[in-house]
Amino acid sequence: MYLSVKGLAKSFGEQKVLKNIDVGIEKGKVLSIIGPSGSGKTTLLRCLNALEQPNSGIYSFEDGFKLDFEQKITKQDILRLRRKSGMVFQSYNLFPHKTAIENVTEGPYIVQKRNKAEVKEHAEGLLEKVGLKDKLNLYPHQLSGGQQQRVGIARALAMEPELMLFDEPTSALDPELIGEVLKVIKDLAKENWTMVIVTHELQFAEEVSDEVLFMDGGYIVEQGHPKEVLRAPKEERTKQFLQRILNPL
Ligand SMILES: Nc1ncnc2c1ncn2[C@@H]1O[C@H](COP(=O)(O)OP(=O)(O)O)[C@@H](O)[C@H]1O
Ligand SMILES: [Mg+2]
Repeated sequence: MYLSVKGLAKSFGEQKVLKNIDVGIEKGKVLSIIGPSGSGKTTLLRCLNALEQPNSGIYSFEDGFKLDFEQKITKQDILRLRRKSGMVFQSYNLFPHKTAIENVTEGPYIVQKRNKAEVKEHAEGLLEKVGLKDKLNLYPHQLSGGQQQRVGIARALAMEPELMLFDEPTSALDPELIGEVLKVIKDLAKENWTMVIVTHELQFAEEVSDEVLFMDGGYIVEQGHPKEVLRAPKEERTKQFLQRILNPL
């Protein structure tokens, strides 16, 4: 197990958004999360990389690093947690005044203070890997949504994370651009990246995932093999959700 999370809870004011979640992330495996809007999927990902601090929860990493959010957490702990994962956002979040390659090299230069020539070479390789070898010097507004999101993926990879987190990476894209982004993620799965992916792309989830987890109302309602959860769900709430996204009208 790469990471085991026990008793994760998060509230915003009075609103309990995550209610005592237990989740395990296996090394080299893909865990997909599905669930209705507002069920807490984004908050869960943000808690996993400390963009949000949980109210409670115990994180145990395979390397022995352990965090208990009911105890005192230091800045160092948060930084160490944050360094472990790379996040790909729904809305790309690229720097608009930086080129594709500058977006990818920024983190390693500024945050990690790595050797410039080495970082640049690595970034070129990553942009080539996501199919953007000939777009290195273009700005985000000169790229399609699919291309921008692929820069977003290269940017997260550039920090050499142990875990990749994707928050609905294709939901802001025009339908014809979704495939090119999903392909990049499938390629990463083949390379055995450890990944957690929030998605509404059910066919993709079925193909790429080792496990699928259905969330509703801040709880994990059901989890298991993709074929079970997506094709033969046991819980009524899972059935209803799948019905709704398969037959949106
Ligand atoms: N920073 C925040 N402040 C207050 N409420 C928030 C914040 N982030 C999320 N929420 C609330 O938490 C709930 C779950 O949100 P979210 O995790 O974004 O769900 P999902 O990604 O499944 O749509 C929603 O009701 C949302 O309004
Ligand atoms: Mg969300």
